[in-house]
Amino acid sequence: MKAGLLGYWNNAAASVTRELRLDRMTLPLRKRQRPGHPPDLALISQAPLRFPEIGIFLVEKRMGSSRRAFLAKLARTKGFRVEEMYNDTVTHVVSEQNTRAEVCEWLEARSGHVVGNVPIVLDVSWFTESMGVAAPVEIEPRHYLVTEPSSVALEEECVAVPVYACQRRTPLSNQNQRFTDALETLAEEASFGSNEGRSLAFSRAASVLRSLPYALTRLEELNSLPGFGSHSKKVLQDMLEEGTSVEVQQVLHSERYRTLKLFTGIFGVGKKTAYRWYQEGLRTLDDLRKQEKKLNREQEAGLLHYADLNRPVSRPEADKVEELMQDVFLQFLPGAIVTLAGGFRRGKESGHDVDFLITHPEEGKEVGLLMNAVSWLSSQGLMLYHHMRKNSYNERWEMTTHASKGRMDHFESCFSIFKLNIQSEATISSSVVTEKTRSWKAVRVDLVIVPFAQYPYALLGWTGSKHFERELRRFAVHERKMILNSHCLYDTTQKAGLPAHCEEDIFAHLGLEYVPPSQRNA
Ligand code: CTP
Ligand code: MN
Ligand code: MN
Repeated sequence: MKAGLLGYWNNAAASVTRELRLDRMTLPLRKRQRPGHPPDLALISQAPLRFPEIGIFLVEKRMGSSRRAFLAKLARTKGFRVEEMYNDTVTHVVSEQNTRAEVCEWLEARSGHVVGNVPIVLDVSWFTESMGVAAPVEIEPRHYLVTEPSSVALEEECVAVPVYACQRRTPLSNQNQRFTDALETLAEEASFGSNEGRSLAFSRAASVLRSLPYALTRLEELNSLPGFGSHSKKVLQDMLEEGTSVEVQQVLHSERYRTLKLFTGIFGVGKKTAYRWYQEGLRTLDDLRKQEKKLNREQEAGLLHYADLNRPVSRPEADKVEELMQDVFLQFLPGAIVTLAGGFRRGKESGHDVDFLITHPEEGKEVGLLMNAVSWLSSQGLMLYHHMRKNSYNERWEMTTHASKGRMDHFESCFSIFKLNIQSEATISSSVVTEKTRSWKAVRVDLVIVPFAQYPYALLGWTGSKHFERELRRFAVHERKMILNSHCLYDTTQKAGLPAHCEEDIFAHLGLEYVPPSQRNA
């Protein structure tokens, strides 16, 4: 199993089920230089070459593009020649946290060169020491990369599941669902009680199990996995030994949990509101209907369409909504790009809603588009409910005050209940159209308007899963001193926003291996 694990986490081949056309999109040639963005490296005035015989190439793998750019700039100011691309003039390949074999494989994959007798492949320690004395230091044995991971390192790597979910690949289906369902129930129960810390602990444990390519069978297996506290372990022990967890069963059957689950299932009702109603003694949807003054417009609509909105949206239904949105947005703005995000982009076959990002390659063209599209949809009777939010993004403020630590973004958006026309079998086969066989279904749809330069960050932020996003942001802050949100990636060390043309660029800035959407089901 260990060898299998190694292959599993190192497997770079992406099994992307639905790569979208914009995933690898690049910006037009005219570069968008925004204030605060680092200038193009090529434009930096270089110090005169002092060591022309040495050609340095920095390996981006595990170093990250941002750190790589920073180190390259540093070396150039000290008179070193640093090559952007691997070529025949490179004499010193410098890498961080890779084995020699990994570097050779990585270089071959990118340059097409066979790197058998490569130039010298060195650890970054040679580089930093050289920068320290502004001259190439003599190469010592400790500067060389090891050829193969040592047996100890190999052993560690085999069993080491990375701590952050964004460092792992988490497919849609896994063999531990009965365990993860149990842990998620406890996570939800804790969050109903506003105990976010406890809730997160259960969510993290569940997420680790979701990433395992095998079914958990023995409690001891948890010892080598990150993220399991004594409480999570106890739950899993009960399930492994008794087949069930009494604690989880008690929660599932408790009046409190069932009521809060029912109330939070209403569109527009958050945990706090649900809890307040529960404390006031309300227990059923009928209780709520009798007290309609309690509800705002959004919640009223949520209650009205409760049954539909709590039936999962299927993939064919999402595809149908997508087709219509494409038509509508393109009709109002030729060249507009409409992208299905959220769970469906991760390959899910059903979801609680359908999420769309809308942009246009010519920034500014998207202004006013949402209003036009939504007005038209409403005029056609296709919007059962909607509320809009204006764009409130302030780049300067956002980047310098680190304001967007929370998850909410500042895009212009529309949160709606959409009337999806469906040709149900019942309507076709039966001449009697009853309420059950009506030809439409209420479906939650989120529409988000994104200025083109922010599109990669928005796509990453709106693809989810929620836990994957949370972990990406936690990783950025704690491991890289960077702030990531759906608008930008800000490096607090360089005090600059880091530009991205696609999602891959953002992973590279963070020094993370790219995780395709289908593997973000953390
Ligand atoms: N999101 C966000 N800001 C919001 C709402 C959602 O950034 N105001 C992000 C979430 O963090 C998530 C993604 O958008 O990553 C999709 O959210 P949601 O539709 O709630 O979840 P899905 O993963 O799509 O799950 P489902 O299939 O149940 O809809
Ligand atoms: Mn969704
Ligand atoms: Mn959504």
